[in-house]
Amino acid sequence: MIDPWKEFPPGNKLFPAGFSVGAPDLILVTHGHLDHLGDTVSIAKAPETKPALKVISIFEIMIYLLSEGVLQERLQPMNKGGSLESDGITVSMVTAVHSSGIGPFAPKSLTNGGEAAGFVITLENGTKIYHAGDTDVFSDMRLIKEIYSPDVALLPIGGVFTMGPREAAYGAKMLGAGIVIPMHFGGTFALPGDPEAFRAEINRVMEKPPRVLIPKPGETIAI
Ligand code: NI
Repeated sequence: MIDPWKEFPPGNKLFPAGFSVGAPDLILVTHGHLDHLGDTVSIAKAPETKPALKVISIFEIMIYLLSEGVLQERLQPMNKGGSLESDGITVSMVTAVHSSGIGPFAPKSLTNGGEAAGFVITLENGTKIYHAGDTDVFSDMRLIKEIYSPDVALLPIGGVFTMGPREAAYGAKMLGAGIVIPMHFGGTFALPGDPEAFRAEINRVMEKPPRVLIPKPGETIAI
């Protein structure tokens, strides 16, 4: 699971009715915002959680999870530029241009969540998936292509708290992934970024556009 936000407000399920991801083996958290750190604490502490569950995130979020009572043996802290292996999957942390305070909507103070990050996930068969987290476009996406050559790129397009369709299309151009999936639009916060506008922007800025997949909530994609 990446950024497991399942309920908001607590008790109101955000996943489609009847949809379940099951018990995760691995949770990756890109940053501390409530719609990303989400339900990590409750999942990691739930009785049905797999004993071997690992949570990977930046060091400061690990300290927060520890303070919330998540078992230390579940926590795999890292930082940008580093890679960790878990069950045959390699997770590399890359930068993101975003903030990362931990806290509710109207806090007296925010907890320091370190910096926002993205992940490049290398699966057992070598397929590489870049999950950008929340971010603006940044020119070092070229370096992510050069170093990791992601096959699949998941890019936020909401356009208020992250880049929108226009900026994300330039990101897709730099990343060169064959499959691009827009994320972080619509939903609870009615983020205006339109996935079809994203597809149109990609067709405008790229001579050889990648496949743009726009899954519905709960839909499974085989790659
Ligand atoms: Ni955020």
